[in-house]
This record gives sequence, structure tokens and C-alpha cells, in this order.
Amino acid sequence: MNTKQLKSIRDAEKASHIEIYSTAKLFESGSWLQKPVKTVTDLIPYFSNYHYINILDLGCGVGRNCIPLAQEFKGKCKIDCVDILDFAVKELNSNSINYDVEKEINGLVSSIDDFQITPNHYDLIIAISALEHTDNTDSFKNKLTEISNGVTKNGIVCLIINSQITEVNKETGQELIPQFEVNLKTQELTDLLNNAFKGWEIIKSTVRNQRYDIPRKNCISDLTTDVITIVARKIYN
Ligand SMILES: C[S@@+](CC[C@H](N)C(=O)[O-])C[C@H]1O[C@@H](n2cnc3c(N)ncnc32)[C@H](O)[C@@H]1O
Repeated sequence: MNTKQLKSIRDAEKASHIEIYSTAKLFESGSWLQKPVKTVTDLIPYFSNYHYINILDLGCGVGRNCIPLAQEFKGKCKIDCVDILDFAVKELNSNSINYDVEKEINGLVSSIDDFQITPNHYDLIIAISALEHTDNTDSFKNKLTEISNGVTKNGIVCLIINSQITEVNKETGQELIPQFEVNLKTQELTDLLNNAFKGWEIIKSTVRNQRYDIPRKNCISDLTTDVITIVARKIYN
């Protein structure tokens, strides 16, 4: 993908997220922001004995997952929350005040590519529907390495990534260019993840074919994807 194509996808993607975040409030019933991702909240018991937890949420959005984690670990966690969209981070900051977790939430406007993950620092790193928005496949692979190095011993990585995405104009049936910077084949992505977390305890590993309607410029897109979930625990140093 050249720079012009990247810019075009990123601009469309940003506009789409502004639209989504403007039309639904965090935890609004009936919206996709209604509740946190269960795979994320299922991880809470793993940290019940921790006195303090450092968490990283890459592509955090308006706080659907990090705010419930901050509530759960109130007074004993810091969550670095990274999003490329200043609109999302502003909403996140205001949500963190509304849910009384502003001390725990550290909102950062940055691309995932530019955010350097400190090695051996985080007890939990989550990236939910976010890593497919890194600049390109090489950048994605580098970030995967940074993520695995960024986790402490017994720390957990929880990734949900879309692969093999297709988009079609819902009204006309016309094929659209998927608005994702990284759109790997499911097998290729599965191989990359298996390699990145070789020797780790695999807590969850699933591939689910899903279909969504999502707003795009001037149309609704009928999107199909293989959603890959991997939750892995670093059982060595
Ligand atoms: C599908 S949303 C998911 C948000 C959140 N993880 C959740 O589950 O509610 C993807 C988020 O990633 C952000 N994003 C997209 N590209 C990004 C990038 N290159 N770097 C950082 N954030 C990015 C978007 O602004 C958006 O908030």
C-alpha cells in the first residue's frame, strides 16, 4: 500500500469512528458500546492477587474495555490508553471522569505504530479490533514483537484482530476496498500469532466468521471478516 492509499484508508477510518462515537454513548444499551468485550473481563480473576497492575489498551476508543478494568482495579492500576483519534481520547477522558476512574486512565493520542511499548512493563496488554489499523504488515509484525516483549512474567496479552475482510456496498452490492490498513489472510495471521506466542500458555484461541453493517462514506458497508481472538500468558521471562 502506498502513502496515498494509506492516507485515504486512514481518513475514511477516522471519519467512520467519529461517526460511530458521535452517535452512541459509552455503555448505551442497544449500541456496540453497550458492554465490554467478555474475553477482556474474563481476565480479571487472573490479577486478583496483584497489588498493582500496569495495563496497556491499544486502540482504546472511548473506553469500552479499559474503563471497566479501571473500575475493577481502582486505586491499584494505571492504564495507558492509546488511540490515534483525539476525538476518542477526549471522550475517553470525559468518560473516565463520569465513571470516577480518571486517576487510573491515562489517555494518549498516538498511532499504535508510534507508541513505543516499554519492554517488560505491562501485566496486561489488550488490543481489541485495533492492530489491523497499523501502517502495514511489517509495522504489524514489529508491534507484535513489541507487545510480546512488553509483557511481564505471567502477564497476559489479549488480541482480537480481523482478517480476510471483505466489504460490499449494502445497497448496490458493489465491492468496496476494505478500510483496513492490514488485511491478512486468516491462515497467515494465525501462523504469525502462533509464532509470536510460541511457548506461552494459550488461554483462548478462536476464529469466528462474522458479518457487520458499518457506516462508510456515502453508504453502509456489508462487512465480512474472520475474527481472530488470542489470549496468551507469558509463563517464562
Ligand atoms: C473498532 S475500534 C475499537 C475500539 C476499542 N478497542 C473497543 O473495543 O471498543 C478501533 C479503534 O482504534 C483506533 N485506531 C485506528 N487506527 C489506529 C492507529 N493506527 N493507532 C491507534 N489507534 C487507532 C480508532 O480510532 C478506534 O478508536
